Amino acid sequence: MKKLSIPLPLLGDISPDQFFTEYWQKKPLLIRQAIPDFSPLLSAEELFALAGKDDVESRLISFFKQHWEMKNGPLAQLPLEEPKDWTLLVQGVNLHHRATDALLRQFRFIPDARLDDLMISYATDGGGVGPHFDSYDVFLLQAHGQRRWRIGAQKDLGIIEGMPLKILRDFQPEQEFILEPGDMLYLPPHYAHEGIAIGECMTYSIGFRAPSFQEMGESFLQFMSDTIDLPGRYVDPDLKASVYPAEISAEMLNTVSEQLAKIVFTKDDMAIFLGEHLTEPKSSVFFTSPKKTLSLKLFIQSAQKKGVSLALKTQMLYKGKHIFINGESFEVNKEDKLSLSTLANQRYLDSNEIASASGDVLEAFCIWYEDGWLELGGKK
Ligand code: SIN
Ligand code: CO
Repeated sequence: MKKLSIPLPLLGDISPDQFFTEYWQKKPLLIRQAIPDFSPLLSAEELFALAGKDDVESRLISFFKQHWEMKNGPLAQLPLEEPKDWTLLVQGVNLHHRATDALLRQFRFIPDARLDDLMISYATDGGGVGPHFDSYDVFLLQAHGQRRWRIGAQKDLGIIEGMPLKILRDFQPEQEFILEPGDMLYLPPHYAHEGIAIGECMTYSIGFRAPSFQEMGESFLQFMSDTIDLPGRYVDPDLKASVYPAEISAEMLNTVSEQLAKIVFTKDDMAIFLGEHLTEPKSSVFFTSPKKTLSLKLFIQSAQKKGVSLALKTQMLYKGKHIFINGESFEVNKEDKLSLSTLANQRYLDSNEIASASGDVLEAFCIWYEDGWLELGGKK
């Protein structure tokens, strides 16, 4: 694993440690030539084609005569011919395109549990999504053409009511930068910003996720309802004749409270919940099974020869003896933990590493291969 104290050109020659101490969730950082000589990883035509697919999240935002419009994908007939300022946003490009996945993985000094996706925006001259703020940290990498960013640390984050997208009511920019290909701007959550294309432009947003506690709480209660075990049923052999039949008795309330207080959750339950929740694929994600199925024996032979790697859409995490993959969890022994945590950290195992995998692990790999979660072939 890489040392976190080594300066990274991607961060303007400061170390991840210094970045976390000074900038992460604190203040913006402009990095000129974070990726020198950067050229776009997808053409505009390839991006338009992705936006037309129904397993890809996309949005078209346009501004005309002081009026904002937003249309959700799949979007056919791009580019738009109408005389409007427009922006196409394609979410999760990394799930479909290997080179953008590799770019996103350059940001793995930030844990996978916080990593969300790589979004690409395409805009024609003057296009943008208006002055707004995001709830997440974001790195805005200029990929093609130029974009003028104006940013501000304002406290007033009031938005204009009745708009199809969040537009700040009173944007007060304090700084302005023109980004060229390879330049990158980091913005912490809730930092006001607006990016306007100067000519045709493409920007890559490397975005992070910070689930709301409300969302996690609701999801946790759902998880607990699937796992609690409360045997027995309410009984009242000492029931007395009631004077006020509509009143719930103190005895009933006490008994039910006592029984429900038996619902306890441990740190282990919490770890299982968190791992399953964080690796759960988004509703738009569909895995593709391989065209050719293999018997377990043939799969193992092939995996031992070529190695294996996680599919672009696969999310894998671990905590203690628990391994999580695409919303499922497994409890494993020490030996299997070593193989599986190496796979999760590297996202591949080469043939040497596969050689030490147990029969159970190889069998799981075969099922994951059939489900389209894992591919044959090591480092890609
Ligand atoms: C864009 O790339 O046009 C929008 C990205 C953002 O403002 O977060
Ligand atoms: Co934004």
